[in-house]
Amino acid sequence: MSTLIQGGLVISATGSVPADVLVDGETIAAIFAPGRGPAEGPNVIDATGKYVIPGGVDAHTHMEMPFGGTFASDTFETGTRAAAWGGTTTIVDFVVQYPEQRVLDQYQAWHAKAAGHCAIDYGFHQILSDVQDESLKAMDELIAEGVTSFKLFMAYKGVFLSDDGQILRAFQKGADNGAMMMMHAENGAMIDVLVQQALAAGNTSPYFHGLTRPWQAEAEATHRAIMIADLTGAPLYVVHVSAKQAVEQIAAARDRGLNVFGETCPQYLYLSLEEQLGAPGFEGAKWVCSTPLRSRAEGHQDHMWQSLRTNDIQMVSTDHCPFCMKDQKEMGIGDFSKIPNGIGSVEHRMDLMYQGVVTGQITRERWVEITSTTPARMFGLYGRKGVIQPGADADIVVYDPQGHTSIGVGRTHHMNMDYSAWEGFEIDGHVDLVMSRGSVIVDSSGYVGRAGHGRYVPRGLSQYLA
Ligand code: URP
Ligand code: ZN
Ligand code: ZN
Ligand code: ZN
Repeated sequence: MSTLIQGGLVISATGSVPADVLVDGETIAAIFAPGRGPAEGPNVIDATGKYVIPGGVDAHTHMEMPFGGTFASDTFETGTRAAAWGGTTTIVDFVVQYPEQRVLDQYQAWHAKAAGHCAIDYGFHQILSDVQDESLKAMDELIAEGVTSFKLFMAYKGVFLSDDGQILRAFQKGADNGAMMMMHAENGAMIDVLVQQALAAGNTSPYFHGLTRPWQAEAEATHRAIMIADLTGAPLYVVHVSAKQAVEQIAAARDRGLNVFGETCPQYLYLSLEEQLGAPGFEGAKWVCSTPLRSRAEGHQDHMWQSLRTNDIQMVSTDHCPFCMKDQKEMGIGDFSKIPNGIGSVEHRMDLMYQGVVTGQITRERWVEITSTTPARMFGLYGRKGVIQPGADADIVVYDPQGHTSIGVGRTHHMNMDYSAWEGFEIDGHVDLVMSRGSVIVDSSGYVGRAGHGRYVPRGLSQYLA
């Protein structure tokens, strides 16, 4: 079956052209000058006045993640359906290894959770929290399975934290086998002391989550991770960067020619320590995530937008890790350190970043680049994903720049959580139609996809390395 997406403006990372896109089966067959496509045969989707973009690639999600004494509230089914609503057609989720678990057992367990449930395609990164011989050997085996990136943590002692020696060994392996090494860069030892001191002083509200994870802890850990990458030769991808001083570390490393990259998330562009974490009572718990929201007075958010323009930060993922207020975030009433860490955004990333086009922060080509093309290149999906070209998977979004999206529970909200971290955000654009491998999964009637349509995508090595 073939479909012609007609009359739209096709936007890529490098430019925008009016063109008609012919989809045949699961892939893109051809791109025609307007009106030059086949007149007979295909179904026609009218994209007149609309943008035609490659489906979003969200390279940082945590569906059903066991964390903080509970589970992230979106399953692979609910989370990928919400992603589809928002124009994201691929996620890369994290397989979790906790201490004493076998990496390959965990990898199989994540396949069991996801298989048959996803609305869109998915890949996996692997979290390592027990770096020893068997885990290092598993890194080679996982690369053969299409898991080509590994996340380590410099925080969360006893849960995820690896010491510098363990990080060094894992990075040596990454330098050897070509894996992308991902880092949660926060100095956990400093944070643990600050948290104990805050609680001992009776400072128990969500606001203190932010104050006890200061930018210095992020900048220091970012610097340390860069030094370990430099020493070993491994490429480094710093996840959820929120502090401008951490960006400065990444920019300096890149200026020295290192393969060091940074990701930020919509929350670090739009939300702040003062306005959200500092909300009255326990409200701030809605926005407890790590790294934390930063002070607007200190200018982190503006700096983060700037670094997206200058490519000091390469891309935007969500770090989608939703928890409900009821029974989940509420575990931390009277002790902010017991609030499960995470924010849900997988549904809104394409819209929130498009609003950056509307406000003049980024161009529409940069929008496509940071939400789709670079994530695909960074994590070895490019060619199939992240681009509209013949041979690519037909993962396509028709986006209406004249449309409007009001974000909030009871409006656009399909994530499995009892509040929205984005309540009241207004977007001057609208996801009109979403296609995943040639199947329309969202159209004007709503979600028309199917759990189990999404497939596991084995990834190659990064296509972004200098
Ligand atoms: O608060 C966060 N970021 N939760 C998810 C786990 C992580 O560190 O990415
Ligand atoms: Zn993290
Ligand atoms: Zn995360
Ligand atoms: Zn709608």
